[in-house]
Amino acid sequence: MPPRILVTRHVYPEAIAILEAAGDVQYNDTSAGLSADQLQAAVADKQALVCQLTDRIDAAVMDAASELKVIANVAVGFDNIDIPVATGRGILVTNTPGVLTDTTADLAFALLMAAGRRIAEADRFLRSGQWHQWEIDLFSGHDIHGHTLGILGLGRIGLGMAKRAQGFGMRVIYHDLERAAPEVEDEYGIEYVDRETLFRDSDFLSVHVPLNDRTRHMVGSAEFELMKPTAVLVNTSRGPVVDERALAEALESGQVASAGLDVFEDEPTVEPRLLALENVVLVPHIGSASIKTRTRMCTMAAKNAAAVLAGQAPPNPVNPELLDAE
Ligand code: DGY
Repeated sequence: MPPRILVTRHVYPEAIAILEAAGDVQYNDTSAGLSADQLQAAVADKQALVCQLTDRIDAAVMDAASELKVIANVAVGFDNIDIPVATGRGILVTNTPGVLTDTTADLAFALLMAAGRRIAEADRFLRSGQWHQWEIDLFSGHDIHGHTLGILGLGRIGLGMAKRAQGFGMRVIYHDLERAAPEVEDEYGIEYVDRETLFRDSDFLSVHVPLNDRTRHMVGSAEFELMKPTAVLVNTSRGPVVDERALAEALESGQVASAGLDVFEDEPTVEPRLLALENVVLVPHIGSASIKTRTRMCTMAAKNAAAVLAGQAPPNPVNPELLDAE
């Protein structure tokens, strides 16, 4: 009997073609997804689950899925999945690293520029008919060239930001748990600094750490106190890494000049105080949203699921220790 696959939400059709060649697909072709009860019922007889970051895959879902072999997340982040539970049950989890690096770094840099140069605010002003004349200080913002970009978390996307910053003649400093190899620092023209120096010296601070117990609220009031009043914060990683209320306070009081946010603590809800502020650019978690990249993410997830169903090692395992154990 062919293996059974559940796809929880709408994906690009190329992924469905791959999955249909690998087994029988139950495809919930909606953006709304499934309720917790519907998900548990639908996954009950499946060997593969293709899900998205908006699907919470917890112990209850895995309890309901005694035959499940693989959870293929259509995202590089996997904080929506209880990895220890999956690993404990021998379920491989996969993600989509690499394919979205440049697209997400493009968006992070766009937010940096939009927040620094007040583009969204100026656009609202013009559209609302308030522009009457050229003025010397109309929407004066903060220069990008010649300024310092601080990168918190030097993964693939952090390095993508460093590459872009080189083209703008920025100084780039970074902090991570581990220092990069000297050849990487040379290639990207980046300097390692301690955490406090990162917050103190950055004119633009871009967050690129995954969400876990260590990084939740890693950027909060203590960090905003360290930052320059002219500094711009950019977050394209996961919302809960930044304490949203503390950020709203810092933006209201002028402790931090502005922010560009793609991710939020409780998506799709956004802290109302942020919504009321002019000095923050808000976009709805679209970091990887180009047609090409989102298609590649979908096909990558499909290939991961298909590999496991064919008894092969998936290309992008999150819990590879399960493969080592085989
Ligand atoms: C991810 O992949 O984790 C992003 O947040 C969505 O592309």
